[in-house]
Amino acid sequence: MAKNSELRLRFDFNNMMADFIGEKEGFTVEELNQSAKICQDAFDTVQKNRGTGMMGWSELPYNQDEVVTDIVATAKNVRENFKYFVVLGIGGSALGPIAVFQALKHLHYNDLSDEKRGGPKFYVEDNVDPERMNALFDVIEPEKTMFNVITKSGSTSETMSQYLIIWDMLKSKFGKDAKNHMIATTSENSGNLIKIAKEEGLKTFYIPDSVGGRFSELCPVGLLPAAVLGIDIKTMLAGAAYMDKLCATADYKKNPAMAFAILQYIAFNKGKNISVMMPYADSLRFMADWYCQLWAESLGKAVKKDGSPAFTGQTPVKSLGVTDQHSQVQLYTEGPFDKVVTFIAVDNYRSEVVIPNGCEQFPNVNFLCGHTMNELISTEMKATEYALCRKNRLNNTIYLPEVNEFTLGQFMFMLELATAYIGEMLGIDTYNQPGVEEGKNATYAMFGRKGYEEKRQELENAPKKKEEFIC
Ligand code: PA5
Repeated sequence: MAKNSELRLRFDFNNMMADFIGEKEGFTVEELNQSAKICQDAFDTVQKNRGTGMMGWSELPYNQDEVVTDIVATAKNVRENFKYFVVLGIGGSALGPIAVFQALKHLHYNDLSDEKRGGPKFYVEDNVDPERMNALFDVIEPEKTMFNVITKSGSTSETMSQYLIIWDMLKSKFGKDAKNHMIATTSENSGNLIKIAKEEGLKTFYIPDSVGGRFSELCPVGLLPAAVLGIDIKTMLAGAAYMDKLCATADYKKNPAMAFAILQYIAFNKGKNISVMMPYADSLRFMADWYCQLWAESLGKAVKKDGSPAFTGQTPVKSLGVTDQHSQVQLYTEGPFDKVVTFIAVDNYRSEVVIPNGCEQFPNVNFLCGHTMNELISTEMKATEYALCRKNRLNNTIYLPEVNEFTLGQFMFMLELATAYIGEMLGIDTYNQPGVEEGKNATYAMFGRKGYEEKRQELENAPKKKEEFIC
């Protein structure tokens, strides 16, 4: 394996600067230097709060030796005895596992033979679409399936309804042995799932109270599914710790997470309300989804910590290079000046494909021959960067030397830190999600959950939809 320094992520923000995209849109060094105090204050607050309140995530790279041992042993058992591993969860309890699976396993993993896969097939059920639930039953064999229900609150309707359906099926098939097919990952101290798990005798893993859903990939939420897939979770944590060390200063020139945060902050204050995440790698496409949740739920807030109005937060948008060059890039180059595009580039892809000779009589096709797809995808990213710069559009790039456990650990930790910094800059509570809770509560009320009578009344009194506005 390459040395840590060779696997270090690089954050290139040249194309945020006036030198490259012009004075009107681009930033100057003076402007960035003037933000030094904002960076320092955000850095100091994040440092001070590390490991406390809802900032337990910052210590996950360091304090999980015991649980990692348990996870590795449990994962070994699952790998040896089960053909399917199914996660039941949503939001922060699903997006990390999906993103890491896509990034580190074969891109057609579930289609491989048992021998080539070397571990269970993997599914994450992060919706309550009845068609999807029944579709799952069509592809798994219950006697060979381990389920992992993940919910910190233990009360999320989507996850608990999935749990009820699966548990009912397991009970009817296996009776008292149903417990051998379900692992629960939840809060140790609160919520329903821990009580249910204890009652049913399920194997459990705990989500620390100080770690919120969208910051939970590096705790058992993400580590157990990853380990079941044969992913080296210790190296992922080591990557996170490595990034943490790189970010040990408030100086944005040395701290990639701070550079990302302050640039987005300044851009946001200049009306760049949209943050596009555009990986040039299929393996990283769901990392963009993971980022979208992190950025949206953490920063989209109505009030500041002091109670004053905020109505803040950039809208994250997921894009995939090169695919979305043929769908979204027209808008990014010529539409409103309201975006920052972040490319994610990979220096060394894990495969190489040569474009063979052919079509000699058609020079406009033949020019591709002899090149590799690797060259093509990287060149297309540079070409898109260039096109954006020509149109004075803010863009920056996170380079991963390659996609592996160590670089992913760095990547995720960098963006978690950046989210924490910008949350402080915006003066908001990065870790709550009252907007999500409102929807959850409305669902409980409409389903007649005890304790939600008042909310139900409120909903019943809400204006009814009018036929005249439906055509
Ligand atoms: O980031 C968050 O806190 C949320 O997105 C949660 O992860 C999501 O709502 C699921 O919650 P829970 O894990 O309690 O089921």
